[in-house]
Amino acid sequence: MTAAAAAAAAAAAMELAVAKSINPIAKFGRSTPKAGCGAMRPLLRARASAATAEAAPPARGKGKKEIKETLLTPRFYTTDFEEMEQLFNKEINQSLNQSEFDALLNEFKTDYNQTHFVRSSEFKEAADKIQGPLRQIFVEFLERSCTAEFSGFLLYKELGRRLKKTNPVVAEIFSLMSRDEARHAGFLNKGLSDFNFALDLGFLTKARKYTFFKPKFIFYATYLSEKIGYWRYITIYRHLKENPKYQLYPIFKYFENWCQDENRHGDFFSALLKAQPQFLNDWKAKLWSRFFCLSVYVTMYLNDCQRTAFYEGIGLNTKEFDMHVIIETNRTTARIFPAVLDVENPEFKRKLERMVEINKKLIAVGESDENSVVKNLKRIPLAAALASELLAAYLMPPVESGSVDFAEFEPQLVY
Ligand SMILES: [Fe+2]
Ligand SMILES: [Fe+2]
Repeated sequence: MTAAAAAAAAAAAMELAVAKSINPIAKFGRSTPKAGCGAMRPLLRARASAATAEAAPPARGKGKKEIKETLLTPRFYTTDFEEMEQLFNKEINQSLNQSEFDALLNEFKTDYNQTHFVRSSEFKEAADKIQGPLRQIFVEFLERSCTAEFSGFLLYKELGRRLKKTNPVVAEIFSLMSRDEARHAGFLNKGLSDFNFALDLGFLTKARKYTFFKPKFIFYATYLSEKIGYWRYITIYRHLKENPKYQLYPIFKYFENWCQDENRHGDFFSALLKAQPQFLNDWKAKLWSRFFCLSVYVTMYLNDCQRTAFYEGIGLNTKEFDMHVIIETNRTTARIFPAVLDVENPEFKRKLERMVEINKKLIAVGESDENSVVKNLKRIPLAAALASELLAAYLMPPVESGSVDFAEFEPQLVY
């Protein structure tokens, strides 16, 4: 075990141990509520009662409630834009395969989903039929998804703006990806209006804190986020196609084309990584690759295990769904990352299970009526146990991987 490996794993462990979200540009609520969820509860109850109060649908256009931004746990991201400019400067970086980016730009310009996101009257009718606890769960699902999509929009938009001079092609792709994410966020926000809620995205843009990630971390994290988003959407879509009785709300019918946007976004990040071989070809790249895989998979698993009611509500087994998504995402990721986790080893799943149990105890401590000193004392051994599980998962023998397509592109860098 190298010092860097330990440091990386410890950092991951510590982040998760304090139950903060370490998911980058999350899709579909992969952010974890803050420490022990204690602070979240009263607000969630308040929102739940608001949703219940709305059970009888109000007159059209009235009764929309603004969701308090404190209910959300989004992470908005920012990066070192000057370093980004250098990375995509064709004079500095000889690895930039401009023809690949030109081809990708054409693909994005085609705008396959230009007319896809059109709503029907089915939406409001379906939302009105969702009552009881499930209604609240749907609202939360829409809210978290919308925030996550919007987070991608903000980052891509800014990258599109900042890279315009250095690399207009890459810049335009970012702008077109921000177009997609804005569409996704907007569609989800309209979904919220079916439940008489609205998310003030302008306010969120100004009020949220932005988390800083260096460019290379943005690449790993965003690649994973897009690909995991793709696998989540497509898995839900296929499941509901086979089991239409669980098709409670029509938004899921849009996931087939929608997930292709996420897939294309992921492919673009794959091309960006290939254009920066220094982020893929050394031992540090392998350690960081595993670190980001672990962060993203564990965060999703812990989050979803707290929201089993949603997945059960649409007829999915939460843990089976998550494991399927993790395995598929990992297989996709192995085509580009130089190392990934051995998630198909049953021991990985056992470790996730133990983390879920520890996390439940952490949440219970957060929700208890004890004072904060007692709570913090009780959290220490649990956080240590979670950290040790994370470290153990990080140190499991990895799967050495790499891209076939990358090998063709840069033969000297075959792994
Ligand atoms: Fe999206
Ligand atoms: Fe995306």
